[in-house]
Amino acid sequence: MASSKSKILIIGITGNLGLEIAKASINASHPTFGLVRASAFSDPNKLHKIQFLLDSGVTLLKGSLQDEMNLIEAIKQVDVVICAVSSMQVLDQKLLIPAIKQAGCIKRFFPSEFGADPDRTQVSDIDNNFYARKAEIRRLIEAEGIPHTYICCNFFMTVLLPSLVQPGRITPPTDKAIVFGDGNVKGVFVKQSDVAAFTISAVDDPRTLNRTIYLRPPGNVLSVNELIEIWERKIGKNLERIYVTEEELLKKIQERPYPYNWELLFIYSAFVKGDHTYFDIDSSLEGSRLYPHIKYTTVSEYLDTLL
Ligand SMILES: NC(=O)c1ccc[n+]([C@@H]2O[C@H](COP(=O)([O-])OP(=O)(O)OC[C@H]3O[C@@H](n4cnc5c(N)ncnc54)[C@H](OP(=O)(O)O)[C@@H]3O)[C@@H](O)[C@H]2O)c1
Repeated sequence: MASSKSKILIIGITGNLGLEIAKASINASHPTFGLVRASAFSDPNKLHKIQFLLDSGVTLLKGSLQDEMNLIEAIKQVDVVICAVSSMQVLDQKLLIPAIKQAGCIKRFFPSEFGADPDRTQVSDIDNNFYARKAEIRRLIEAEGIPHTYICCNFFMTVLLPSLVQPGRITPPTDKAIVFGDGNVKGVFVKQSDVAAFTISAVDDPRTLNRTIYLRPPGNVLSVNELIEIWERKIGKNLERIYVTEEELLKKIQERPYPYNWELLFIYSAFVKGDHTYFDIDSSLEGSRLYPHIKYTTVSEYLDTLL
């Protein structure tokens, strides 16, 4: 009997998020396809991922966003396209949109977003158009009338959380912690595998058609002050706070060229300027409310793994 679950094509399946989306798709029993660039098949760093995908029953198709013929052929085999190319390649999706339109069979497209809401994050004068590029792709999708869902998750847990939002560190501080601004602006951290599980749950859900899903699970929405307090309780020690004002942070951002200032940029956009509206948005479109069956990892649970 044919599966009633949508067939999903993942573009960027050998990437960090793309592989997690593939795992979630397989777990949810979706027939899963991946578009893989020819170079990946001879890359020793990618071979184990490719073998894992093949062993898991994923159909791998050779192609790329620039290879129009193979791209359209791949799209024609599925119902849903999820793109997870990196933020540097976001505008390459301009090649994907006409291909989806031409294939004519796609009932849902998830563009490569998976961060802050690009329509609500207003730091484009200093962020090298990071968010403007994602917003540009949204407008093209909407202009072409392609059915879509946008996934907003703020930060992956591997970004900024391992250092407790301390630029230049990869582990949490044990003596002193820098606090940018007043430290009270809240951000969200979601584990990549949870972002993937929420994304796959939305694939066949009519509630999320042509909508944006916001991931802000309870337990994962925290200010830097709250993060430091949680960490202090875990290590049984108070940290000295060193406060950096918004003006000082902006000066530091301007002193370093993009992308070397990326940590400071994201700290500024999420934890100083902040997207206050992110928390006011219709809670019926919050991922953990839509899909309460997903047992997501909380920030506290993640921090336990760093002890
Ligand atoms: N919220 C956050 O904290 C956060 C953090 C990181 C990323 N993100 C977002 O997550 C998304 C995915 O990022 P990522 O870091 O997981 O990406 P990644 O690991 O760099 O993976 C990129 C993938 O895209 C593939 N690819 C690149 N160019 C391609 C092309 N022209 N045609 C077909 N495939 C191509 C790569 O294939 P090869 O294997 O052949 O190179 C790879 O599989 C992005 O939208 C990014 O902004 C969010």
